Amino acid sequence: MVALTTALSLLAGALAVAAIVLFRRLAAAREAGERATDGLLRVQQDLRLRSTEAARMRAGTSALDEGVVLLDIDQNVVDWNRAASDLAGLPERRQGNPRRVEDLLPWGQLELALEDLERPDRDTDAVRFELAEPAGEDERNLLVRVRSLGDLGFVITIHDQSRIRRLESMRRDFVANVSHELKTPLAAIKGFVETLRDDPKMPGSTRKRFLERISTQSDRLNTLVGDLLTLSRLDETEGGAEGFQPCDLALVTKETIRDLTSLAERKGLELSASIPDGPVFVRAEREGLRQVVSNLVDNAIKYTPEAGVVAVQLRFTNVQVRLEVADTGIGLSPEDQDRVFERFYRVDRARSRELGGTGLGLSIVKNTVRGIGGEVGVHSAMGKGSTFWVTLPRLPTDSSAG
Ligand SMILES: Nc1ncnc2c1ncn2[C@@H]1O[C@H](COP(=O)(O)OP(=O)(O)OP(=O)(O)O)[C@@H](O)[C@H]1O
Ligand SMILES: [Mg+2]
Repeated sequence: MVALTTALSLLAGALAVAAIVLFRRLAAAREAGERATDGLLRVQQDLRLRSTEAARMRAGTSALDEGVVLLDIDQNVVDWNRAASDLAGLPERRQGNPRRVEDLLPWGQLELALEDLERPDRDTDAVRFELAEPAGEDERNLLVRVRSLGDLGFVITIHDQSRIRRLESMRRDFVANVSHELKTPLAAIKGFVETLRDDPKMPGSTRKRFLERISTQSDRLNTLVGDLLTLSRLDETEGGAEGFQPCDLALVTKETIRDLTSLAERKGLELSASIPDGPVFVRAEREGLRQVVSNLVDNAIKYTPEAGVVAVQLRFTNVQVRLEVADTGIGLSPEDQDRVFERFYRVDRARSRELGGTGLGLSIVKNTVRGIGGEVGVHSAMGKGSTFWVTLPRLPTDSSAG
């Protein structure tokens, strides 16, 4: 009996110990489970945060004008933004596995840049180069920068420089053209002056003819310098409306036509006008407006052979005024219609120069009209004639004339 009681109490003790161990294990397991759940929640939160950050980064880069391309450390293209698609012709979005950089951006200079950045002894983290892409008609000038991100890979940024390069080339052309246009009359003047100086016995009639030529060439220089000053003034005040006043375009047009009538008559041309009786106001600088009308009518007269017609018309709506100068002259080819508003552009250089032109008239018209917030254009048929038009924003009629 005593033995049985002892055995039972031993068993109870063992059971109690086992229960305590089990209980502790259970408690430990629950704690571990709770820790695991906590950990999982934190990971989930972290992931959510990261995907929001990634979405924000993506939205940010998609709004950039600069192209951005990301490579991993093995030079696979992993991501890029919208501008990179536009500038480098990459597909809209990535499909399937990442592709090798040379498959998507097959630029020799890029390959060299990446090679450079992978050299252990490199002294820089970034390489830049310029690229004309794609070669041909609508070539774009791209500035490409490649930067190493260490273990994270590389980032390539692509910047479109075409506009800057185009402007630079226009400026170079402009300076070359100005120099050339100045040199021609100067050389002529110098030639006449030297001949006069070296030949004191020159007959009076020849002397007079030479002096007249000098006078004509000086006038040419004067006009050229005046036009250049006008253009530079227009460039400076681009977008600014200082000095603009309400001007009566109907009055300015009538006065210009009156001034040019004798020129048209001398060429045997009919100059007709259809202009409203009352005032038509626009906000502009009066002299600029006069130059616009005068350049267009002067061209129509210059480039229309004898017995032709030049018709000037002014029409308006509540918000807009339209001036049209139509002629029955030599006309312009479609390619020339696109180019006549460029500085110094002349279809027939020799003929225009003979007529005293420098090829700046229409560029002055265009700059002035754009400065007033208007538009200018031409439609024309070779051998039949041209119509140059200008539209300007109209001011209410009660504005006072400037
Ligand atoms: N009405 C027209 N008909 C045909 N060709 C024209 C007409 N107006 C302009 N052009 C062409 O466009 C060119 C540029 O005209 P623009 O008025 O700028 O220069 P320009 O008349 O030669 O010289 P200027 O600086 O004295 O005006 C002209 O040389 C001419 O070839
Ligand atoms: Mg002209």
